[in-house]
Amino acid sequence: MQDDFFTAPESADRLLSTPASRAAQLRQEINRHAHAYYVADAPLVPDAEYDALFLELQTLELAHPELITKDTPTQRVGGVALPEFSQVQHAVPMLSLNNGFDVADIMAFDKRAKDGLGAQEELEYAIDLKFDGLAINLRYIDGVFAQAATRGDGYTGEDVTENIRTIRSIPLRLNTEHPPALLDVRGEVLMFKADFDSLNQRQRSAGNKEFANPRNAAAGSLRQLDSKITSQRSLRFFAYGIGALEADYLPLSHRDLLDWYRSLGIPVCEENAVVRGADALLSFYTQIQQKRTSLAYEIDGVVYKINAFSAQEKLGFVSRAPRFAIAHKFPAQEALTTVLDIEVQVGRTGAITPVARLAPVFVGGVTVTNATLHNEEEIQRKDIRIGDTVSVRRAGDVIPEVVASLIDRRPANAAVFVMPSLCPICGSLIVKLEDEAIARCSGGWLKCAAQKKGALFHFASRKAMNIDGVGEQLIEQLVDKQLITTAADLYQLDAVTLLTMDRMAEKSAANILAALESSKSTSLARFIYALGIRHVGETTAKDLALSFADIDALMTANEERLLNVTEVGPVVAKSLLQFFADQQNVDIVRQLIASGVHWPKVNQFNDTSLPLLGKTLVLTGSLPNLSRELASALIEKNGGKVAGSVSKKTSYVVAGDDAGSKLLKARELNIPVLTESELQQLCNSIPEQ
Ligand code: IVH
Repeated sequence: MQDDFFTAPESADRLLSTPASRAAQLRQEINRHAHAYYVADAPLVPDAEYDALFLELQTLELAHPELITKDTPTQRVGGVALPEFSQVQHAVPMLSLNNGFDVADIMAFDKRAKDGLGAQEELEYAIDLKFDGLAINLRYIDGVFAQAATRGDGYTGEDVTENIRTIRSIPLRLNTEHPPALLDVRGEVLMFKADFDSLNQRQRSAGNKEFANPRNAAAGSLRQLDSKITSQRSLRFFAYGIGALEADYLPLSHRDLLDWYRSLGIPVCEENAVVRGADALLSFYTQIQQKRTSLAYEIDGVVYKINAFSAQEKLGFVSRAPRFAIAHKFPAQEALTTVLDIEVQVGRTGAITPVARLAPVFVGGVTVTNATLHNEEEIQRKDIRIGDTVSVRRAGDVIPEVVASLIDRRPANAAVFVMPSLCPICGSLIVKLEDEAIARCSGGWLKCAAQKKGALFHFASRKAMNIDGVGEQLIEQLVDKQLITTAADLYQLDAVTLLTMDRMAEKSAANILAALESSKSTSLARFIYALGIRHVGETTAKDLALSFADIDALMTANEERLLNVTEVGPVVAKSLLQFFADQQNVDIVRQLIASGVHWPKVNQFNDTSLPLLGKTLVLTGSLPNLSRELASALIEKNGGKVAGSVSKKTSYVVAGDDAGSKLLKARELNIPVLTESELQQLCNSIPEQ
């Protein structure tokens, strides 16, 4: 895969090049990328490509030591310090880590360490996550935060004291009676994924440039000369190392160090472990890999460190990195490929999504050939053209997306994408409302087969009517052969018709009919969700089902009544009104009911013996006995709903210690505030009628 990175223009002279000229070429490339990454905070290529170049140069220099120059990037640690900040000399250099990419690399690391220590038995390792942020040194003098510096080139960094001071989780005074005279805490500054998303949202609405990823956002926020800007960005910090130390207490191992930090009030990530032997390292790696997408922050691997400091010291360092530690990196989630074409897809609500057709590329563990481009504005903003070399990202099971285009690799004949004016499926006009980023086919589901298929597929899907065996392929055929038009038609299907489908045997036809039959017995919430009303997702559908006795009440509700429902705001209300104002939709609902679709008339939540029925509660602060989960479970068990923020629709706010802005908001809106014990009492009571 690494060879793919060296694309056509370079490969010819690469064949002819000597090791010396290749090394020079690599140094130039690496320096260019390092500057873009470390100084400009605008990387030109995915990290994996940079890593590949670096590895190639390291390997080349290993084979030809005579080629090593004074200024080769393998002999130093990072970027150049920014001139605008004053410089800080690190008391102990902030070095880097060697990377391992596969089992063999880790086994070899373990063996080298064992050999180096002359150990017979398995070694004890401390494992940390490899945070994708920026390395920082925090200096505490007599327990008081005195200075913070970036890594810079490893020896000299930039003074970012005022900016770091704005990070609320970093203590300004250590939590101890006997502080060390001097402590240099090493760790990573990063931005949580949720904070990154809301920052980008703010950037977008203010018309500012968005950040490519949380790492860049963290870097951009930290490198602000005006610390007021930094204070508006939610940055976090995790400690994982130490520089200079003058103290009575000296930790003996990495584990000791992290425990000590925790006791001093310095943030330490909870995801870590101490294990013995290489096998245990690898099993931690696999576990974390599975957890990766659910973590609140981005990581690009894990770091294994020999736990005992005495052993670390014995192993020492080699040029830019320690021998006692290694970063085990995850496979790249970003890779480079070319855009073969840009086409548009029509979704179930008519939304037109441009999709890049890509030269197949292996990324995040799968081969990707398509990636979403979201909408026309996004294509313009990222300036993506047909023929461009682009970086593609795939994280977890999200849809792959094109992150950026590499302008300096753009071919002369790269073509600009033009949004078609007509729907490629039904030929209706494509329209774009002023306040929406998304263009839509104006044909509607009756005319546009793509919308029809999308709506039917949604209707049958697992969280909707859950009709087993009625998937995309079957719906595609049924619609193309004009055997069905609406969801109601699904229930009119018979074995004879089904048997005319491709690859349909009697057994599977019978299974589909049985699945259709059993899907008729459903819940009101699923039924509402299955209708595919715009802006009505699963949660809103559940809320509507709780709030309305039956579908007729919902179909005839006016705006005011709809707005009374917790999850319903003006946009959803409008969408519901529009949907049921269309006689065709009402007819389909009637037909579905006539063909036997039904749900419990008084659903379980309408049980009037539940004391919190129809009530929305907000939890704030820490309650004396109940955890947040237990309190939520108690409320839900009693028919109530837990919401995240206080509004006019909130029935009660349950407040514990350290309740903050939510409590103030409740007072402002005159919403009753309960203690934990009042909540318990309420749950044991008979509801008011
Ligand atoms: S230890 C001498 N631990 O990775 C060893 N580094 O590639 C110093 N990083 O500059 C580093 N998470 O920015 C260490 N748990 C962790 C880390 C970590 C992220 C970063 C750090 C460092 C770079 C090295």
